[in-house]
Amino acid sequence: MSIFLGIETSCDECSISVVERRSKNNFFVLGIATSSQEKIHQPYGGIVPEIASRSHLETVLPTLVEAVKQAQLSLEKVDAIAVTQRPGLIGSLLVGVTAAKALGYAYKKPLIAVHHLEGHIASLFLQQRQWDDFPLPMLIAVVSGGHTHLHYMPFLPDQWPIDFLKTSLIGRSRDDAAGEAFDKIGKLLGFPYPGGCWVDQTAKNGNPKAFSLPRALSQVDTYDFSFSGLKTAVSLLVNRLQKEGSFEDHIPDICASAQAAIIDVLWSKISLGILKLKCQSLGVVGGVIANSYLRKKLECDWESLFLKCPPFIPPLAYCTDNAAMIAVAGAFRFEQGFFLRPDEYLSLNALAHS
Ligand code: KG4
Ligand code: ZN
Repeated sequence: MSIFLGIETSCDECSISVVERRSKNNFFVLGIATSSQEKIHQPYGGIVPEIASRSHLETVLPTLVEAVKQAQLSLEKVDAIAVTQRPGLIGSLLVGVTAAKALGYAYKKPLIAVHHLEGHIASLFLQQRQWDDFPLPMLIAVVSGGHTHLHYMPFLPDQWPIDFLKTSLIGRSRDDAAGEAFDKIGKLLGFPYPGGCWVDQTAKNGNPKAFSLPRALSQVDTYDFSFSGLKTAVSLLVNRLQKEGSFEDHIPDICASAQAAIIDVLWSKISLGILKLKCQSLGVVGGVIANSYLRKKLECDWESLFLKCPPFIPPLAYCTDNAAMIAVAGAFRFEQGFFLRPDEYLSLNALAHS
């Protein structure tokens, strides 16, 4: 049984979590505090990096205090500190990495530098399941605001090679990420940033067949995605409806049609991967798996297509950026010996790119 402190500040969420590893496959969140910057960035329609890092500076300590208070333990009891080191906004990452170093140095704890996407994949292990519940190989879809990746996972994370994310990557978006497409379409429709959850909510009152929108690369034999054409198509549609004076009435239909286009493309590439690579299970992680239409499709439609290939998704609370997933990813890497001692990590730097 070991305890990990996770720190995540790669973008606009300042999140700190205390996670207990109760057995190899059983992680329990003792405490988690997340300070969202959504409201701060909303007037700008997107994240302003300088404002993000300044806000992290203000919130990192109160967030730590809250997480540790929830966990009801002293920082002395923590076995190691896991921090998102890459990729992300450099100023934001630096706040988390510096806080992790300072805490680690003060409490003499090892430090684990975590890749943000490994964190998202590790969020699958925050559900209480048996190790054997993950039949391998597993196809992993990472669908977030910054990434749309497909990974082929023949081993569980305790056996991941250090370059797992590179060697396992079979497909990615050639332009916008799926979450980015949701957000850009949300912006065109006048929703606050980030638009994904607004499009999701509004789509519930719309008809997904109201407008025919492009599903790029869906008929092509590639695992790559492309979402920028969809954004352009929605922009042209919005202009046309505005000229006709019927834009406002059609917002729910546009949301439902655009959402269906994004999810259809994800669905077709995931299905292609499962069939061609003979995957035995599916994991979908990242902010877009919070989408209610995608979650419902996985719950209701998946089994009829791929009966012997169970789908796994993280609990809703751990879909978008959070520190619990970073603590879990750190725990796997710690077990493999990928950690640094206080005299080794003071020169460790944050990296904007992976
Ligand atoms: O994983 P995440 O928190 O941050 C990144 O690592 O990028 O994902 C954020 C993304 C945003 O683009 C947001 O709009 C999208 O996840 N998102 C959603 C929903 N909730 C969050 N997209 C569609 N439907 C949702 N309900
Ligand atoms: Zn993320």
